[in-house]
Amino acid sequence: MKKILITGGAGFIGSHVVRQFVTNYPEYQIYNLDALTYAGNLANLMDIADLPNYHFVKGDITDENFINGLFEEHRFEGVLHLAAESHVDRSITDPFSFVKTNVLGTVILLQAFKNLWVNNWEGKRFYHVSTDEVYGTLGETGLFTESTPYSPNSPYSASKASSDHFVRAYGETYGMPYVISNCSNNYGPNHFPEKLIPLCIHNILNNKPLPIYGNGKFTRDWLYVVDHAKAIDLVFHSGENHQTYNIGGFNEWTNIDLVRLLCQLMDEKLKKPVGTSQSLITYVTDRPGHDLRYAIDARKINAELGWKPSVTFEQGLEKTIDWFMDNQTWLENVTSGAYQQYYEEQYQK
Ligand code: NAD
Ligand code: TYD
Repeated sequence: MKKILITGGAGFIGSHVVRQFVTNYPEYQIYNLDALTYAGNLANLMDIADLPNYHFVKGDITDENFINGLFEEHRFEGVLHLAAESHVDRSITDPFSFVKTNVLGTVILLQAFKNLWVNNWEGKRFYHVSTDEVYGTLGETGLFTESTPYSPNSPYSASKASSDHFVRAYGETYGMPYVISNCSNNYGPNHFPEKLIPLCIHNILNNKPLPIYGNGKFTRDWLYVVDHAKAIDLVFHSGENHQTYNIGGFNEWTNIDLVRLLCQLMDEKLKKPVGTSQSLITYVTDRPGHDLRYAIDARKINAELGWKPSVTFEQGLEKTIDWFMDNQTWLENVTSGAYQQYYEEQYQK
């Protein structure tokens, strides 16, 4: 039986990837390694936690001795690496945590994997789950392709770009079979409410201001998280070694239009008069180095692996809102404690 390591599996995207693998591949033993930082939450995986092919390991990818021991003990044949510090705003106030986890942590994993298999790469694979933010920003037109030069603008995207380069370097230097995917903004159930969509859902439910950075004309390409997890499954199993795949939603929205749509859908769900939630929209100081526009050209993964998003944005947003409304205890749990201090520091500058 194949043992596969998924890092960051208690986080937003990681939990959907763990579910995708544990439920679709009973022949694999799936090990979810997660340090359970503020963003990691085992409640995300309650429905599959008792399945016989699922195993949770609490640990930090930056702890080299621990990681080497874990790889020697389990001899993982595949690694899906998602563990990361993932929020741009936090990277602006605390870049070193991003260097430590995203760069150093990735190299520690690569080195442990290399030490195990350097003389026998057959059937092994290291998958780095990365972001479109490594490409920097687009102007009004154009799309990110797999050959767009890297030009990261935030400490977060610089750390992800750096870790992508290390993965590639291990491929070139040691012959490590790897794949990388660079995905656009995800949304969906279990999304931590520091990011735009869940933050606005949380604030609408609590009648709090909806903070829009700058003029609100910044554009993102949104993808439903379950469609990302399915794409990761395809790339892991059928992607070509030493290749990069861009994954995106074909779904561009300016922040202000997106938040207005969210307000409208939430007013309908909450049976509030039209316009109630929109009145909470508040323009706030812009994010430094704010990328104007991200948009993915996902033709490669579509043509080579047959992937495309399975839900429209309207369907995905509705599922997302329903999930948050049905899981308000989850939301309350993650927004109590440390979140309060983060929120005050971030939004009362
Ligand atoms: P997240 O912040 O929700 O989850 C990150 C997980 O990693 C958490 O469970 C956390 O506990 C764990 N973690 C953090 N530091 C760790 C460490 N030192 N050791 C072990 N575990 C650690 O992030 P996410 O949004 O689910 O993103 C997952 C991955 O996908 C990241 O690599 C991110 O760069 C990438 N990505 C995210 C998006 C997005 O829209 N969220 C888009 C494209 C790519
Ligand atoms: P975010 O969800 O943080 O993702 P990313 O920065 O990785 O794209 O932000 C999405 C967009 O929303 C981005 O343009 C920044 C903007 N934004 C706001 O306007 N207000 C907010 O409170 C947050 C968190 C983000």
